[in-house]
Amino acid sequence: MTPDAPSAPLAGRVAVVTGASRGMGRAIALRLARDGADCVVVYRRDHARAGVVVAEIERLGRRALALAIELGEPDEVPPGFARIAETFGRVDVFVANAAATAFRPTLEQKPHNVRRTLAISLESFVAAIQAVVPLMRGRPGRIVAVSGIDSQQAMRGHGVLGAAKAGLESLVRTLAMELGPLGITVNGVNPGLVETDSSQMYVERGLEREYAATVARVAAATPVRRAGSGEDVAGLVAYLASDAASFLTGQTIVIDGGLTIVSPLELLNAIPGPGAPDA
Ligand SMILES: NC(=O)c1ccc[n+]([C@@H]2O[C@H](COP(=O)([O-])OP(=O)(O)OC[C@H]3O[C@@H](n4cnc5c(N)ncnc54)[C@H](OP(=O)(O)O)[C@@H]3O)[C@@H](O)[C@H]2O)c1
Repeated sequence: MTPDAPSAPLAGRVAVVTGASRGMGRAIALRLARDGADCVVVYRRDHARAGVVVAEIERLGRRALALAIELGEPDEVPPGFARIAETFGRVDVFVANAAATAFRPTLEQKPHNVRRTLAISLESFVAAIQAVVPLMRGRPGRIVAVSGIDSQQAMRGHGVLGAAKAGLESLVRTLAMELGPLGITVNGVNPGLVETDSSQMYVERGLEREYAATVARVAAATPVRRAGSGEDVAGLVAYLASDAASFLTGQTIVIDGGLTIVSPLELLNAIPGPGAPDA
């Protein structure tokens, strides 16, 4: 697709993606840019990697801005969006993707880690919505929140983050109701295992397992027989951001290759051990 092809579904739109310096957020920003959007790459501290993403977006013929916002400090959100307003004058798509936590058992969580996890995923999300909605007024707007399967399933080290993600999914429903009359849809995406820096850190430090072998075992138990990629999730976000999704709001869509629709009894077949059919 040429840079300004009129058929690009997001041509002329402005997208803001948090946590876009790497991982899923980077894939989402690049996909939205390929679909025609100018992009704001929000990151925390990895200026070099954010700069690389900006350069990749500019090579696609779009405008891009790297913007450092510490989402653990919600007071940084309004000035960040003021900068976006100065640069682009509007926002059409907002993707709340960034998250961080200490992958520790709940009993070992330090108060500052609990506060920080909730501040990034909930408090800064609300602050960002309050800042971004005035920049969407008068045009169809799209808000997409990246949740996680920890919102529904108990996962070691994910107690606080899972609670934050469950709260995020609740906000998706309420915001969809509140913002629908303004022409803004609000949806969530809920990925399964996606290969990124943070999934590797969780497997190695949180579960104390070897990463490649763990990904291979999860893939073997997944109906489509692979782990996810950032591009898988980006494709769904691009659809939710498009005009085609104007009647879809308030939903959080699980994208996990089918892993969570499989009964735990079926999963036993994917894990060798006593009682397995071929044991
Ligand atoms: N990976 C998975 O398997 C998986 C599964 C389900 C859900 N998720 C969710 O998907 C989202 C993206 O995950 P990922 O694996 O792509 O993450 P990642 O590779 O660890 O990337 C995290 C991104 O968030 C930014 N970030 C972290 N803390 C921040 C803060 N306090 N303020 C501002 N930005 C901050 C980082 O910026 P810097 O580079 O500057 O540090 C980076 O851009 C998260 O919401 C995660 O919970 C991931």
